[in-house]
Parts: sequence; C-alpha cells; structure tokens
Amino acid sequence: MPRVVMGADHAGYKLKEAIKEFLEARRYPIDDKGCHDDQSVDYPDYAAQVSRAVADDDRNMGILVCGTGIGMSIAANKVPGARAALCHTEYEAQMSRNHNNANVICLGARTLKEGVAVRLVEKFLRSEFEGDRHARRVDKIKDLETC
Ligand code: RB5
Repeated sequence: MPRVVMGADHAGYKLKEAIKEFLEARRYPIDDKGCHDDQSVDYPDYAAQVSRAVADDDRNMGILVCGTGIGMSIAANKVPGARAALCHTEYEAQMSRNHNNANVICLGARTLKEGVAVRLVEKFLRSEFEGDRHARRVDKIKDLETC
C-alpha cells in the first residue's frame, strides 16, 4: 500500500478532506501537506511539496486538488521526477498508471463531483504501471527534464 501525499489550495481543500477521510477509512498512510482551511493560498506551494515527496521516494503517491486541477498539474510537472496526470474519468486515472507511470493525480474540485473524485483516486492507487514499451516512453519523458 503506498503512502499518499496530499495537497490542495483553498478551492480544493474541502475535496481533499473528503478524499483523505475515504483513504484513512481504508488504512492508507497519509501525509497531508495542506492547506488546512479555505483561506486563499497559492497552489504552486502545495504542488511543489507533494511533487518533491513523490520524486524523492517512489513508495509515495501524490494527490493534488485545486479548482480545476490545471494549475496543480502544470506546477507539479515542473518538478523533476514528478509525473502528474489531470484526470476526469476512471479510464484516465487507470491509464495514467498503466501507461504513463503517473505518480501524482490532479483533480478539480470545481469540475468533479465528490463521489467521482473518490473513485478516480481509488482507481489510480490500485492500478499498476505496465512497463515494457511504456517504460521506454516514460524514460524519454525523463530525458526531457535535462534537455
Ligand atoms: C483558485 O481560484 C484557482 O485558480 C485554482 O484553484 C486552480 O483552479 C488553478 O488552476
């Protein structure tokens, strides 16, 4: 079971809390980087903390929530070693693991219903990277971090 590192801005705070409750009930270890209320904050600060945690330790998986998930995904993917996927469907959540070896899922609190978001997280955490030809492609993404 991976350790789940979570982060959200003010727009994603409530959904992060709901996802956290769901995961805690299923005994996932959680590292919640904040934010811890709905006061306005800047999403890159939380994307940075979560992305660094997953890049530093491949036993960690990240969840980032903002209004749309877009800002979080743009910021998270600037951190070398982070592969953040903005997902709206269970299919995307699964494929982001199977083919892209994503280690962070980004979610939009203003674009997803809570129940859907929780199902995406569950699918993401339970899906595995398939390796093989996909590993070659993910290695090429890694190469882009130094070009
Ligand atoms: C905050 O209003 C909003 O811009 C942020 O949560 C996010 O949607 C950015 O991509």
